[in-house]
Amino acid sequence: MKYLLSQFILLIFLFSLSLQAKDKYLDNHSCNECHEKIYEEYQTSAHAKSYFTDELHKKIADKVSNEKYACATCHMPMANNLKDLISGKARPNKNNKTHTDAISCYFCHTIAYVKTAHKHNINTKARQAENFKPTLYGRLVDPDDSDKHSSSKNPIYGQKVCMGCHSHKLNDNNVTIFRAMQKKQNSLECIKCHMPELEGGAEKINKKTRATHVSHKFLGIYDKEFRATGLDINISTTADSIEIKLTNKMAHPLIIQPSRVKYLEVKVLRNGKEIWKNYKEKPQEDKKAFFEYRFKDKDGKKIIIPATAYSGEMNNLNMKESKLLKYTGMKLKKGDVVKATMFVRFAKQDCQQVIKLEDEKFKKAHLLKEVIYRVEEK
Ligand code: HEC
Ligand code: HEC
Ligand code: HEC
Ligand code: HEC
Ligand code: HEC
Repeated sequence: MKYLLSQFILLIFLFSLSLQAKDKYLDNHSCNECHEKIYEEYQTSAHAKSYFTDELHKKIADKVSNEKYACATCHMPMANNLKDLISGKARPNKNNKTHTDAISCYFCHTIAYVKTAHKHNINTKARQAENFKPTLYGRLVDPDDSDKHSSSKNPIYGQKVCMGCHSHKLNDNNVTIFRAMQKKQNSLECIKCHMPELEGGAEKINKKTRATHVSHKFLGIYDKEFRATGLDINISTTADSIEIKLTNKMAHPLIIQPSRVKYLEVKVLRNGKEIWKNYKEKPQEDKKAFFEYRFKDKDGKKIIIPATAYSGEMNNLNMKESKLLKYTGMKLKKGDVVKATMFVRFAKQDCQQVIKLEDEKFKKAHLLKEVIYRVEEK
């Protein structure tokens, strides 16, 4: 009898263990205990921005639909009720960590493989064995385990890991909303620029005494210094013309995000005074130097939010592509200064017609890169 009772108690104990093991999500903050530096870097990154903290994303998402949050696939991929968010049975919830954690550490580090698909690619998560601590994947050579998780090297983290969300996206009418990667493009290139190695091991105790870890700041367009590194601007002149060569050094097009524009302003200054400019009032007048996506509805009318677009076109600069812009109609003299400035708007001005943005950074143009050239005697 005593034996049976102890067996029964053991059974109950095991049962309760398995219940606890069901919900094994390790939230972002739990990584801070051992990966302090990486956690700090990550907190400043775009991947930590969620529906609740990214004003531009939230306002566009709500405009597209205030019932269905289909954006969750990439913007809230860890959601424990992902299907319900997409179908409109549930809404984003501020008190749910799997929602506020956005593109979470745990999500990225449990991607097992990426399936390529027409509308957008699909991340497939690793199945975690019940009653065991989860296994997190990465690229460390001979990684240590810890009491919170096992570690395993997985080649995906150099190959396809960025492709699941960043590759491309089409809307229901097969119109491309963005395209950043080519079909078979490797992610290692993306990692080299967006996750450079920084000093210090990946983990606080650093038993393996590693000298570096990869940055989790994922710097992008919002970082002033970083964004100046993607583009070369070269100026040359004759007595009555200016040639500007733009070279995209990045492994993706100049414009990826359809809510953004990048445009060039070219000015000639004589004794500090402007004597010539490439446009009069609006930068869009210089079409070749205005880089953006444009969309139209069923009737061919221009629309701003691409979710329901029937067609789209763009002026872009492809990966590693150069483009020569030629301007004529000015008479240059020795000592004149030619100033070529690339600007970016995080939200194009047209957006303000359909959504109201409060954050000041969305209301103005920001400097991307400026090059100054002094005209010599010919
Ligand atoms: C296939 C994956 C995917 C889906 C689905 C998706 N996005 Fe995104 N989104 C991305 C990626 C990747 C980025 C970062 C790319 C970039 O900044 O250029 C991004 C960035 C954005 C940004 C720019 C954010 C900023 O602050 O600059 C906005 C706005 C946005 N998405 C809106 C949406 C909306 C609205 C939906 C749903 C209707 C949606 N996205 C669905 C992948 C996706
Ligand atoms: C109790 C400490 C601890 C916690 C908490 C912890 N880790 Fe780790 N993690 C480690 C140790 C130790 C290593 C091995 C480091 C090494 O080999 O240099 C590691 C390695 C890793 C690796 C590298 C795996 C590989 O194969 O390359 C990843 C990715 C990782 N952790 C992600 C996370 C994430 C995400 C979280 C939060 C959900 C987390 N860790 C929480 C201790 C921890
Ligand atoms: C040679 C370095 C380099 C490589 C390689 C690279 N990037 Fe970038 N990327 C940049 C720089 C610099 C910026 C910011 C400047 C800009 O957007 O004009 C940027 C911007 C971005 C943006 C925001 C673009 C926008 O619309 O403003 C996304 C998203 C992005 N990169 C993702 C990726 C992905 C995914 C890969 C791999 C296919 C990748 N990057 C490869 C340097 C690089
Ligand atoms: C967008 C995907 C993504 C997110 C989000 C992400 N990581 Fe990583 N992480 C990577 C990739 C990719 C690598 C491997 C890069 C390499 O070594 O080339 C990596 C590497 C690591 C490593 C191994 C260190 C090293 O130098 O290789 C650790 C530890 C780690 N991440 C922890 C975290 C933690 C903790 C968080 C959240 C605070 C996090 N990661 C969020 C993609 C991600
Ligand atoms: C689960 C989907 C997902 C994966 C996987 C992912 N990203 Fe992202 N990434 C996003 C989304 C969504 C955003 C935009 C978030 C926002 O701004 O609200 C983003 C933003 C970025 C940005 C900032 C772009 C900008 O606007 O300047 C960079 C850089 C970036 N990701 C690089 C990477 C790299 C490199 C990898 C692979 C190691 C990767 N991402 C993997 C979804 C993902």
